[in-house]
Amino acid sequence: MAKLDRSSREFREAGHRLIDWVADYLDGVDRYDVLSRVKPGEIAAKFGAGPSAQGRPYDALVADFESKIVPGVTHWNHPAFFAYFSITGSQAGILAELLIAALNANGMLWKTSPSLTELETVTLQWLRKSLGLPDGLFGIINDTASINSFLALAAAREALGLDIRGQGMTGRELPPLRVYCSEHAHSSIEKGALALGFGASGVIKIESDDKYRMRPDALAAAIARDRAAGALPCAVSATLGTTSTASVDPLPAIAAVARRENVWLHVDAAYAGSATIEPSFRWLWEGIEAADSIVVNPHKWLFTPIDCSVLYTRRPDVLRQTFSLVPEYLKTTDTAEVNYMDYGLQLGRRFRALKLWMVMEHYGIDRLRAVIRDHVGYAQRLASELTKRDDIELLAPQSFSVVVFRRIVRDRGGAIDEAASERASSELLERMNASGRLFVSHTRLRDRFGIRVAIGNGATRWEHVARVLEFL
Ligand SMILES: Cc1ncc(COP(=O)(O)O)c(C=O)c1O
Repeated sequence: MAKLDRSSREFREAGHRLIDWVADYLDGVDRYDVLSRVKPGEIAAKFGAGPSAQGRPYDALVADFESKIVPGVTHWNHPAFFAYFSITGSQAGILAELLIAALNANGMLWKTSPSLTELETVTLQWLRKSLGLPDGLFGIINDTASINSFLALAAAREALGLDIRGQGMTGRELPPLRVYCSEHAHSSIEKGALALGFGASGVIKIESDDKYRMRPDALAAAIARDRAAGALPCAVSATLGTTSTASVDPLPAIAAVARRENVWLHVDAAYAGSATIEPSFRWLWEGIEAADSIVVNPHKWLFTPIDCSVLYTRRPDVLRQTFSLVPEYLKTTDTAEVNYMDYGLQLGRRFRALKLWMVMEHYGIDRLRAVIRDHVGYAQRLASELTKRDDIELLAPQSFSVVVFRRIVRDRGGAIDEAASERASSELLERMNASGRLFVSHTRLRDRFGIRVAIGNGATRWEHVARVLEFL
């Protein structure tokens, strides 16, 4: 008889050891280089041509994990991980992932796991209130902000009333459709628009002001230009907390344009949205009542392990009209209000609400607020230390937990030598990352190379952030 797991004895023993391994890992993560030093192909070369025929005990696999796999890991759970936006794990999130895997529940329909659907509904209302978002928003958890923005743009396209769902976009006369976002919007907006058939030429990048915020006057002008040329404006995506600098697009003015022009207003707050759990950052939401859809990623800055991205919308009817398709084998007789499969592309869905619930409940809102406040405080302190130096320039106003700076080199006349500054900044970044003591990434702003520090790990202390200064 071929039963997969013969008993729980081996699992139980290995499981206890693995929890110890995880606790030791988190306690001692600082002894690892943040950025893995392996060369391409080095990890793959350690593995044979195929899996074992007879199976191997967990002990042997954990030994392989430590010797063959861990060396090729870049430690996102390291308190000196300052690159991109950290995806912050936490002990509560890790335990929740264990339970999620144990249940292995699929929440495609309410009845395929009522707890999955109902906890998702409850936690997203809790989160909405905790972030100070308006009442009346419907929420759904998906894997990433990229997918959530894609879903929102699909709904925006459906809301045009062109029966694109029924008749498609080819073989008939349609005006060219337009999506607007700032030149600093995340690439996921353009990618979503490409996948939905707007075409690269249908994505209009609006110029930003000197603080990297979308210019509402330029948005209004672009829409007017497009209308005059026969195009149909469909959606505007405003970013609250851009990827490069955490700049915040002026939502009230953008919302006024969107309302006047009758276009869908999407708000990408994937990173900075989580900060509003701290009430003093709620100014971020000024103008949010006008948003048709909003994305916030608890897996970026709310200590929930990847993947967990929330899409809120005040127009769930449109999302449903866009995506609901119920074949016979998925029809149900219950009167559940929500079958989440109706609000997106995927049918099967993980129990992600369990980790968001466990993180919010275990730490409590007060502790989450305190950690977020600390992160912003560290970023402010770093920016203030950097501005004391005459060989360093901040490339953007310090915002939330992000600091962007460069090293400047001057010529004999005292003017900034752009080429030499770029070389010096890029050399500085390489030196920091090669040290293994921290990991920072870069951006380019108005053609200037900048070193970007984004703080977001729950274990980060000032002493980790101060490592940036040690390299100057
Ligand atoms: C502002 C913003 N939006 C969207 C994304 C995409 O996030 P995800 O990896 O969840 O798709 C990012 C990623 O850093 C981001 O910074």
